[in-house]
Order: sequence, then structure tokens, then C-alpha cells
Amino acid sequence: MPTKNNTIYILYGSETGQSQNYANELSHLLRYHHHQTIVSTLDDFNLLSIIDIKYLIVICSTTGQGELPRNATQKFWKFMLKKKLPSILLNNLKFTTLGLGDSSYSQFNFAIRKIHARLLQLGAKELCGRAELDELFAGKGKESAFRIWCDEVVSSLNKHIGIKEAPIDSEILLEPEWIAQIDRGSTEVVTKGHELDVAVTRYTKAPNISHKSRTVSTDKKQNQTHHLLQVTENERLTSQEHFQDVRRLAMKNVSDSPLPPLQSYEPGDMLEIIPFNDPHDVELLLKCQPEWNEDADLPLKIVPNPKLYEKALPDSTIPTPNSLISTPNVKN
Ligand SMILES: Cc1cc2nc3c(=O)[nH]c(=O)nc-3n(C[C@H](O)[C@H](O)[C@H](O)COP(=O)(O)O)c2cc1C
Repeated sequence: MPTKNNTIYILYGSETGQSQNYANELSHLLRYHHHQTIVSTLDDFNLLSIIDIKYLIVICSTTGQGELPRNATQKFWKFMLKKKLPSILLNNLKFTTLGLGDSSYSQFNFAIRKIHARLLQLGAKELCGRAELDELFAGKGKESAFRIWCDEVVSSLNKHIGIKEAPIDSEILLEPEWIAQIDRGSTEVVTKGHELDVAVTRYTKAPNISHKSRTVSTDKKQNQTHHLLQVTENERLTSQEHFQDVRRLAMKNVSDSPLPPLQSYEPGDMLEIIPFNDPHDVELLLKCQPEWNEDADLPLKIVPNPKLYEKALPDSTIPTPNSLISTPNVKN
């Protein structure tokens, strides 16, 4: 029977969201097999509790040249590399891993190989072998490799935890993992003002977001790196039958300040797009849902569903909905 000690921690490191999707998909599958799961980024996980948990699944992509994604390097990987960690530290831990990579890179799936090797070095035991997905076989090949690995994970966990019941019928809806809460106590009106301010406020106020090279400022007099752009062209590049929807977007600068000259960009620079809803669409939606009017300007919080996590161990590892962009020291 699943108990709080048998909670399965699915921790992911993801640069562009694919590992996160796989982590959520695996969690979903395990929940239908009567397991209790917690999904979190590697960096959001409270590392002090790693000795208290019994089952760990790490899903991580490789980025850069054989590197770990940003949401796995600030805390998790720094901790794992500590020389002082004893080789019996994770003796009670059973784990497996899934890597996402692209074999056209010379350091194929290096990140997950490093993580897997380090977990073994620290005494953890394999639940089942590692799987490595290859972007070069995106589509059926990659998906079927994922399914095969998932089946191994489920049967291994069922055996260890002693789950004998048939899986829950897929027609039955499980409790949602996240719920939306309206912050009625808040005096802050988040949607007041210009659209750019709404987007930038959302960006700078989200907890723990930043990147070391990012200079974000809500003070318009400071080094302002955000601009209001309008999409002028939106063309699908992949055929309608192809599963991926890749688009070419053209945008026009409609903010007061000019965009930096092209020569100021360097290889490796990133562009982040923070979309917001067209106020006209928002008004239209509110007209259809007049009962929302009272709360429409109040902040909305997406929080873990307490019904699912009240039994989780330990308390501090309850996940946050933050995912790809959680690194400390936001520069306001
Ligand atoms: C800038 C960049 C660098 C990458 N470097 C590697 C690499 O060194 N080795 C590898 O196996 N895959 C590499 N990849 C491929 C990614 O790991 C692969 O696309 C993966 O599915 C991304 O997963 P994520 O969305 O969870 O980050 C790289 C991809 C990008 C965009």
C-alpha cells in the first residue's frame, strides 16, 4: 500500500520544458497506478531531505556542451558534487533516471549520465536501468522508448511497494495537482495600467526568477531591456500533419524606446517573450462571465492542491509551480 514514506519524488532538470513534460506525464501514469508522487525541479527540491526519501526518479536534459539545465545547477548539482558526501549517504534510496538529449551533439546525454553515476557513487540502488531519449528520433521512436521505460518503472515500483490492484480506470479524473486561489486579501490590483507594465510586473514579481545575465528593471529610467512588440506575421513552418508546430514570428517594436542595434547582440544571447492577453479579449470574456467581475483584478495564485500534499514527507519539499526559470537573485 502507498504510504507517505513511499512517495515517489520525480525531479527534473529542463531548459526548454520537455523534461518537465515527461516528469508530469510519468507522475500522471504513476498516480493511476495508485502511487503518490511529488514533481519538482531539481533545484526546488529540499536536498536535506534526500536521505529521508525512498524512491527517486530524475529526468534531465543536457544543454550547452554537455551541461545540466539552469534549474538543476544552482543547488542540486552543487550539492551533489560536494567531496565530503559519504559513499553510504544514499544507501536507502532506490532510483532511476531518464535523459533527454540529441545525438548530433558530441556529449550526448552527458547530464543524466553524470547524475546517474553520482547517485550510484553515493550508495543509491537502481530501481531499473536508465533510458536516454534522442531528439534525433523525435516522434514515434522517442515516444516508444519513453513508454518502454515507463512500463519498467511502474512494474519495478509496484513490486517494491507491493501494489497489486489494477490501475485506476483512465476515464476517472484524479484530483488536480494544482489549484487556483484568488488572493481576496490583496489590496494590489495587478491588471491596472499599461499592458507592458502588467507583463513586466508578472515577470519581475514571480518568485525566484532570474538569470545571471538578465537585467530587468521596472524603473523606466534604468537600463530597460524589455520592449512592447506587436506580432505582425505568424506563419506555421511545419506541415499541418507534422506533430510539431514550429512558427516564424515577425514583430514590430511599438514601445517608446528603440530596440538595441543589431551589432550589440552576441552569440548565445536569448530573447524572452512574455505574452499577455489582448485587453479587448479580456473584456469580452468578462462580459460572458459577469460573476468573475468582482475578482477579475485580484492576484491569482496557482498552488499545490493541499489534498494531495498533506501526506507528503517532508513538508518543505512541496513543489512550487515555478519550473524553467527558477534561479535566485532577481535584479529589480
Ligand atoms: C543550446 C542547446 C544545447 C544542447 N546541448 C546538448 C548536448 O550537449 N548534448 C545532448 O545530448 N543534447 C543537447 N541538446 C539537446 C537537448 O538536450 C534536447 O533538445 C532536449 O530534448 C531538451 O530538453 P528540455 O526541453 O527538457 O531542456 C541541446 C539543445 C540545445 C537547444
